[in-house]
Amino acid sequence: MKEWLNPTVRQLQIPGIRHFSNLVSQFPHAINLTVGQPDFATPDHIKKAGCEAIKLNETTYTHNAGLLELRDAASVFMHKKYGINYNPENEILITSGASEGIDTAFRTILQQGDEVILPVPNYPGYEPIIRLCGAKPVLIDTTTNHFKLTVSMLEKAVTDKTKCLLLNFPNNPTGVVLQKEELEELASFLASKTIFILSDEIYSENTYEGEHTSFASLPGMREKTIVINGVSKSHSMTGWRIGFLFAPKEITEEAIKVHSYNTICASTISQHAALSALLKGSLDPALMNKQYLIRRDYMFNRLVKMGFEVVKPQGAFYMFPSIKHLNLASFDFAYRLLSEAGVAVVPGTAFSAEGEGYIRLSYASSLSQLEEGLNRLEKYVKSQHLVS
Ligand SMILES: Cc1ncc(COP(=O)(O)O)c(C=O)c1O
Repeated sequence: MKEWLNPTVRQLQIPGIRHFSNLVSQFPHAINLTVGQPDFATPDHIKKAGCEAIKLNETTYTHNAGLLELRDAASVFMHKKYGINYNPENEILITSGASEGIDTAFRTILQQGDEVILPVPNYPGYEPIIRLCGAKPVLIDTTTNHFKLTVSMLEKAVTDKTKCLLLNFPNNPTGVVLQKEELEELASFLASKTIFILSDEIYSENTYEGEHTSFASLPGMREKTIVINGVSKSHSMTGWRIGFLFAPKEITEEAIKVHSYNTICASTISQHAALSALLKGSLDPALMNKQYLIRRDYMFNRLVKMGFEVVKPQGAFYMFPSIKHLNLASFDFAYRLLSEAGVAVVPGTAFSAEGEGYIRLSYASSLSQLEEGLNRLEKYVKSQHLVS
């Protein structure tokens, strides 16, 4: 029976993060620092808008592209915050989370044999979709440059088969942000190339230092960039499943076909809730960011004091310290830390093989949880004489 199934699907692995969180559930007293979503409740006004939508029987399909009011609001958001104009009529799709936007974007542009450049370590949601499209991921190891992609790295990876470059800033798993000047250098290299850019900006509203720059706002980039965003992280709405895809009309008109045949439209109730997020919740991310910032500084200082080498994140809610000095493989270290000390972290290899020698810690947990988790980590590392 199995052999009748699509071999590409059979070869896909269960995501490393899932694999590890399944293990975590066997250790109910562990402090869980693997969490990839905000630990705040969805703001009340958004929940109310969802309930209202149900009461008013807003429970039928919407336009395939999503409610026009929500596309209008998403257009205003992109213009006000990042200075880019997208026509709500034909340049914006409301998707079922950023995930479906990523899937739709890749399936719209990729053909068999195309290459997609992925700076790694990276979020594990891209590579399987690229493979399902028959395309080939080309990985660039950014660990050698504090997780920052440069033009010279890109130059070496581009071939005549390159169809797309994936960018994700603020980044999961490292929390790294590329500054405007760094993005401008990439943009000026890409300007003369026929390469699409898929810019996953789902953590744009979780930027702590400086301003987020949307890649599409850079000279010459709007025409070849598909921007993915959404409300999952910004408004603590991961379970509502609402994302946004912004792209020029020529791309969106094709992408809407892929999206429609996949899902018809995003959940109508959730679209009404997301409308409240955009219209009334512009200050919601800042309230959460205030807490994330306190936690980031706390976690960073503790890790540095323990002797970990770690790049200070400027966005998202993850930290990606090196554990190379502990002389253990990432998975082994994470497993031992979980089973022997009761702290769950994600092995770096969940984010590509280049993540070997790192672990990901999330600070989307209360300060008291972080304190206890880091106390246990410190005690464990000392007691095992792991520090070289
Ligand atoms: C970088 C990145 N992109 C996309 C997603 C998926 O977002 P959504 O829940 O909106 O599908 C995640 C979720 O963790 C992520 O970290």
